[in-house]
Amino acid sequence: MKQNLLGRMTPDCGSIWAEFDCENFGIFSMPIAVISDIHSNLDALQAVLADIDQRGVDQIICLGDVVGYGPEPAACLDLVIEQCSVCLMGNHDYAVLYEPCNFNIGAESACYWTRKKLEAEKDAVLRDRRWDFLGAMATKHVIQSDIARQGEMVFVHGSPRRPINEYVFPDDVCSNPGKLHLLFERFGRLCFVGHTHVPGVFFDTPDFYGTEELENEYPLSDSYKALINVGSIGQPRDRDNRASYVVVDEEKATFIRVPYDVDAVIKKMCAIGEIDEYLASRLRDGR
Ligand SMILES: [Fe+2]
Repeated sequence: MKQNLLGRMTPDCGSIWAEFDCENFGIFSMPIAVISDIHSNLDALQAVLADIDQRGVDQIICLGDVVGYGPEPAACLDLVIEQCSVCLMGNHDYAVLYEPCNFNIGAESACYWTRKKLEAEKDAVLRDRRWDFLGAMATKHVIQSDIARQGEMVFVHGSPRRPINEYVFPDDVCSNPGKLHLLFERFGRLCFVGHTHVPGVFFDTPDFYGTEELENEYPLSDSYKALINVGSIGQPRDRDNRASYVVVDEEKATFIRVPYDVDAVIKKMCAIGEIDEYLASRLRDGR
């Protein structure tokens, strides 16, 4: 364990096996905002943080992928460092810090550009603070709640089995139901994930409900376990281009969408040669 710049004790995540041995635990007061997959999209992040603030929610857990794809990694890291109580490691954070694994050409190029951009920071204190923050990200956070509807709540980027890299897709319900059953053995009552950029709730029947079917609300239950995908702030892929996040209180998880100036972000991305134009244009349709 070591102390990071925020004074928090964090596990040493310096090995490739980090995803298997880093956890931290915490007690929180509700409500909590759960955000994920910011992907260096500062405009979307600022819009979401303003929305969270307006709702009077002051605990924010970030499920990772703060960087990658988008045009403003440093500013996004600075805001997350200042405003999030917990920030876990996503596969793009890992890729920028270590090496990209199984990335397509566009994602890989954006990853190397992000690393170059963070390294180019002239202020050594700022530069080191961002790298130290990336290096200190845990891969799993657990909250034990006295409320039966919440019980053990696990927070990861990908899945409770492989916190950094494993995708849990809605299609898995039909194509790989055994996978869902195994994943549900890995947490108590609730598990919060990001990574696919598609918000919704999985059950171990197995089944998946998108936010439209849920009417943007999942009432917590003391009978059912649920795996909740909070969607993406900076690269939504459910054909809704607004930033996505979740607020969880003692009764329910609420899915929230926040509009922002998508065209302004597309313009910034297209001005950077190393960022694939497809990553920019897909923001318009949220796909
Ligand atoms: Fe992501």
